[in-house]
Amino acid sequence: MMNAAQPRLSPEQSREPVRYLVFSASLRGASLNTKLATLVADVIERHGGTVDRASMSDFDAPSYDEDVEVGDGFPPGAEEFQRRLLANDAFVIVSPEYNGSMPGVIKNAIDWVSRYRPQPFNERHALLLSASPSMVGGNRGLWALRVPLEKLGTRVFPDMFSLAQAHKALDENGRIADAKLNSHFEVTITAFMDLVEAARNYPCAKKAWFEFLGEQTDEATSRSQ
Ligand SMILES: Cc1cc2nc3c(=O)[nH]c(=O)nc-3n(C[C@H](O)[C@H](O)[C@H](O)COP(=O)(O)O)c2cc1C
Repeated sequence: MMNAAQPRLSPEQSREPVRYLVFSASLRGASLNTKLATLVADVIERHGGTVDRASMSDFDAPSYDEDVEVGDGFPPGAEEFQRRLLANDAFVIVSPEYNGSMPGVIKNAIDWVSRYRPQPFNERHALLLSASPSMVGGNRGLWALRVPLEKLGTRVFPDMFSLAQAHKALDENGRIADAKLNSHFEVTITAFMDLVEAARNYPCAKKAWFEFLGEQTDEATSRSQ
């Protein structure tokens, strides 16, 4: 029981260590999503999390081909993505929207990594964000990105954050200019951090969000798992 005389720690001071992989799913040098990923990393670190910052180019791989997988094994980008997922407790993807969906480069990376056993997306927590010059900030792409991740057992945080008119939304220091929107951005990230910390460190608070069916892996079903 807590001694009433002891000063209360702020949530940031009392956090247990949690590691977050953070990357943008854009390959573009001047990417708006990469700028938003930098802000995400900053918020996580300010609130006591440890950030492992990556680039989409670290995880880029040739188009998935089962013949290549069987003949040559995994390409370096898939190896790296798998390694970094396993090295962290949770991951954050800041993804552009392409044609109302996710960019092919991130779907291809997910497809490759889904072939590892044990499958590293399963039971990991994820937060999804996007940035776009459009009025909806690329939010449709995030709904598309949820689908393969949830299929693979990732616990995708219910709240997502999409930065609309992203080319105008950042100030000269690269921060979200609108104070209310910036506060919503920080609250979304810290709420995610609270959940990941609880699941990581306090098994009694852990909830299974998705039913894992536990199908047997054999030659016929392995492609669909
Ligand atoms: C192939 C392609 C498709 C796009 N489709 C959409 C779209 O459906 N919705 C949207 O909001 N923006 C779309 N855009 C615009 C991107 O949001 C914009 O280029 C954005 O800056 C890309 O993200 P980045 O800056 O992180 O590279 C598309 C851009 C490209 C190149």
